[in-house]
Amino acid sequence: MTLALTDNTLLRHKAYINGTWVEASDKDTLPVTNPANGGVIAQVARCGTQETRAAIAAAETALPLWRAKPARERAVLLRNLYQLMMEHQEDLAQILTAEQGKPLAEARGEIAYGASYFEWFGEEAKRVYGDTIPAATKDKRIVVIKQGVGVVACITPWNFPNAMLSRKMAAALAAGCTLVCKPASETPLSAFAIAELADRVGIPAGVINILAGKTAEIGEELTSNPSVRKLTFTGSTVVGKELMAACASTVKKTSMELGGNAPFIVFDDADLDAAVAGAIASKYRNAGQTCVCANRFLIQESIHDAFAEKLAQAITQFRIGDGSQDGVNFGPLINQRAVTDVNNFISDAVNKGAQAITAGKNPDPDGNFVLPTILTHVTEEMEVFRKEIFGPVAPLIKFSTEEQALRMANDTEYGLAAYFYSRDIGRIWRISEGLEYGMIGINEGIISSEAAPFGGVKESGNGREGSKYGLDDYTEIKYLCLGGIDK
Ligand code: SIN
Repeated sequence: MTLALTDNTLLRHKAYINGTWVEASDKDTLPVTNPANGGVIAQVARCGTQETRAAIAAAETALPLWRAKPARERAVLLRNLYQLMMEHQEDLAQILTAEQGKPLAEARGEIAYGASYFEWFGEEAKRVYGDTIPAATKDKRIVVIKQGVGVVACITPWNFPNAMLSRKMAAALAAGCTLVCKPASETPLSAFAIAELADRVGIPAGVINILAGKTAEIGEELTSNPSVRKLTFTGSTVVGKELMAACASTVKKTSMELGGNAPFIVFDDADLDAAVAGAIASKYRNAGQTCVCANRFLIQESIHDAFAEKLAQAITQFRIGDGSQDGVNFGPLINQRAVTDVNNFISDAVNKGAQAITAGKNPDPDGNFVLPTILTHVTEEMEVFRKEIFGPVAPLIKFSTEEQALRMANDTEYGLAAYFYSRDIGRIWRISEGLEYGMIGINEGIISSEAAPFGGVKESGNGREGSKYGLDDYTEIKYLCLGGIDK
């Protein structure tokens, strides 16, 4: 399968190490397939321990020069990268849709979203402020400076192949860190395209290194190599815990953006049409494959049937198909394993008494499609209440009181995103303060922005990405104690 790009050199198949495109030392390759039809798009270098070591060594060598560059110079490079990504938005979106499956309009949005982190952190690079602190004695002065942590390892998922990497890279580069990045094996092409553009803007060799391949080998080296001072990961809670444990042996700083089980609560005073629109955006974006997707819909009894009816009507409007086709706004899941997992969630719920409503029909048996689905008569015993679905399934659960809604919403080990719809200002404050989550959408189904702190509490992770807080995870605080001031 060939992609019709304006600039074909954005489609890179090799690993980017020390400013050079290299094959795996044993010439091994990994197929990248299109989730909409199973076709092979590319064979990319399948790297392992040896290439990871070379990438870490390159990042370590590049560190002193990159760190010493004035923040203003790093800022110019990041700004230029933002601009170049936007100039190539269409090609980058085509690559993204081909390997990930999301509709082109969403892919274009993701490129703009990913690029915005380079713009944002380019500006923030100039604002890594320190502190002066009054000392306890006359002869001393206390000064605090912030410095980049050093070599950073990034492990990123397949659901946002551009934006999840961009938001880590941008913050790390702004802070003066160098990088070794491992994108998901399903979607390495978007990551290589960013490396190609970074190379074109003149980010020096070794500052950014990107390789895909043998997940276990690369992960083992990134977590155990003492030269790596920080690991940042977006993915499942299960894998996040394993990575945190592995990083403990060299006491690396970690930031983890992990799984979620987002409640989406609709109170009886809500604007119902706005709630349905928010539900569609939050639940079905990327066919339900986002960590912040609404996972459980808690609907107040008196409006439950009206909400269910409007939502069922809304899902009939999707055009399901290959995301690269005009007008398609609902794409496939990433692979067959995801299809099986999501279908198992539906079967578990139906076997326990839920009723399923679906819309549309499967456009291609060779693709990984699951139709948009709503489940009614859902109870807390069903897996869809407890587990992250990561697919286009909306379970509806009734509640009667505010207290009950809050109890059900917080009854999970996760704490990433939560949403609720209400017009009552007192209730808005009570619920916002009561929800045990890192991010809350209030009368809003889409909360992501480079200007806002993205991250969770409980088993949804630690650290924040984006916003003025996003740099903190990539810096260390250094305390300078100046003595002998008073003679
Ligand atoms: C995610 O699914 O983790 C990212 C979603 C986003 O940034 O909007």
